[in-house]
Amino acid sequence: MNRRRFLASSAGALAGCALPRLVLAATGPGLIELDAVKGQAELYGKEGKLSDLWLYNGSLPGPELRLRKGETLSVRFTNRLDEPTSIHWHGIRIDNAMDGVAGLTQPPVQPGESFDYTFTVPDAGTFWYHAHTMSWNQVPRGLSGVLIVEEETPFVPRDRDLTLFLSDWRLDEEGVLITAGLGSMHDFSHAGRLGNWLTVNGQSRPDIPVVRGAWHRLRLVNASSARVLDLEPSRFGAQLLALDGQALPALRKVEGPVRLAPGQRMDLVIKPEGDLPIPFELTTGQPFVFARFLPRDAAAGAADDDLPALPAPNALPEPNLANARELPLEMAGGAMGGMRIMMQRGLDPQALMADGKFWIFNGAPGSLETPMFKVARGESVVLNVSNLSGFPHAVHLHGHHFRVLELNGTEQDPADWHDTVTLEPEDRARIAFVADNPGKWLLHCHMLGHAASGMTGWFEVA
Ligand code: C2O
Ligand code: CU
Repeated sequence: MNRRRFLASSAGALAGCALPRLVLAATGPGLIELDAVKGQAELYGKEGKLSDLWLYNGSLPGPELRLRKGETLSVRFTNRLDEPTSIHWHGIRIDNAMDGVAGLTQPPVQPGESFDYTFTVPDAGTFWYHAHTMSWNQVPRGLSGVLIVEEETPFVPRDRDLTLFLSDWRLDEEGVLITAGLGSMHDFSHAGRLGNWLTVNGQSRPDIPVVRGAWHRLRLVNASSARVLDLEPSRFGAQLLALDGQALPALRKVEGPVRLAPGQRMDLVIKPEGDLPIPFELTTGQPFVFARFLPRDAAAGAADDDLPALPAPNALPEPNLANARELPLEMAGGAMGGMRIMMQRGLDPQALMADGKFWIFNGAPGSLETPMFKVARGESVVLNVSNLSGFPHAVHLHGHHFRVLELNGTEQDPADWHDTVTLEPEDRARIAFVADNPGKWLLHCHMLGHAASGMTGWFEVA
């Protein structure tokens, strides 16, 4: 067996914002241990009090897992919480049995029990892992972390490969996580559980040291339960390198905001110049600086002026549009008039609400009992997604990546792959993928409260 290469993030070089070290408590060659445990951390500023959290190996965010494209990850996961849980490896085109969806691909891991996850990673890029059992309760308490799959040849040296793991928290006046109201009907039927504070790698407004004149890769992950983040990379001279883990064929300069929905990733490149701290901020709603880059001089000879060779895009199967199976995905329900459509579809909103269901997929709340559709392995699928509700939704597909062919009739960049796409109210999107991965795959809104109250369905590839 190969020795695995799970490396901790280099604690020294990035003391300001280093991710927690992965504790290599291997029980056998190549096996790492992840335990879901109760723990505490400070979420708000220096004066903030400790919050009670649920964490992987006691660290916030969970340990940074790194391996190389094509390698195998072996995790012995142990549940040391008081309720069942499981881990989903978001964005990985994974073996279905390892997808971590309790009730669909595995039984939930009961308190005190373990489950072994073993899978190979076909694509290089930025991915993440999070709880997928009652995720509306477990993710906003801290159960998430980054999973990085390195290219054969790293784009930049490790100390310039920076993860920004973004988490949205609902804090009280003392900066302590509010857990009362998790799972409230109000959050489920509106925009989901929105927080009031954003941490970066579990820290409050960190200063991130960067090397002046050198290229850096920033790996942004939106681990929020419901908050959509709009960022404007051009404001600090950044360009897009990858979306949802998949490298673009060329660097892309984008003017204006780029949307990062819950679950999505965005890789940027920057070459910081000048002296001032460079504010890294959200650009819509209340402008909010959530981190600052602090340029410092390189040790002699360390900076390189030339853009390094870009990572090659992963080889994903191209959908065959001439032959594709066209299927609808109509999303409706929720507050602000969404119940009207439920009635038009012949449903009784009162009865559904009494059952904790506020949302419907194709005329009914999704269920784990029966698939929404079945497709033959290798078939191309076009999903015609429409948002008939008054809230945005982040449609996420497990086990596959898709093209967004059109959004509201406008053609989208044909080079991009996604595993999640945001639809604002009244939006319509056509998305296409090859159903090449056998098994039972979830299709859900990544606003976790929506997923729990009707917006979760699945399809079978056989
Ligand atoms: Cu991050 Cu079901 O997903
Ligand atoms: Cu939603």
